Amino acid sequence: MKEFKVTPIRNGTVIDHINVGMALKVLKIIGVGGNVNSTVSVLMHVPSKKAGWKDIVKIEDRELDPKELDKIALISPNATINIIRDYNVAEKFVVEVPNIIKGIMKCANPGCITNQNEPVETEFVVESKKPITLRCVYCDRVTTEVADNVR
Ligand SMILES: Nc1ncnc2c1ncn2[C@@H]1O[C@H](COP(=O)(O)OP(=O)(O)OP(=O)(O)O)[C@@H](O)[C@H]1O
Ligand SMILES: [Mg+2]
Ligand SMILES: [Zn+2]
Repeated sequence: MKEFKVTPIRNGTVIDHINVGMALKVLKIIGVGGNVNSTVSVLMHVPSKKAGWKDIVKIEDRELDPKELDKIALISPNATINIIRDYNVAEKFVVEVPNIIKGIMKCANPGCITNQNEPVETEFVVESKKPITLRCVYCDRVTTEVADNVR
């Protein structure tokens, strides 16, 4: 028998295996603030069968767009996306860090042209996916601290 710590959802998305501590960032990425009109469950610090601890976010009647998936991959490269249809997992995939990150992150270098009110979209080359290492194509600043710069 399946055991649930929260109400099962009929249709929607379960974002599982979120790096522990990142659930609130995931909520911000997918635009869940104070006002929602569907059920959202957030589980923090859940024991993971794989190893250690994880967070989980369950959203009813929502699927995620590619930009949201890229942002989640940046803060939580092992997150799995489960599409729920009629109470069952209809699709499951692991998020994927893209090779080029465009527009979804700000550069940590205050002197970077992308931080000067110029109409320049940020762009990073992914030098390593594990651990995640990005290089700004404009100022060459290398960063591994992505969580605070995803927007
Ligand atoms: N109807 C549902 N409502 C809410 N959550 C669900 C529903 N169905 C599945 N889930 C959740 O979705 C996630 C994936 O479900 P699944 O049955 O594939 O588990 P699993 O075999 O442990 O998957 P994985 O190998 O990815 O960890 C789990 O966290 C599960 O609790
Ligand atoms: Mg599991
Ligand atoms: Zn830069």
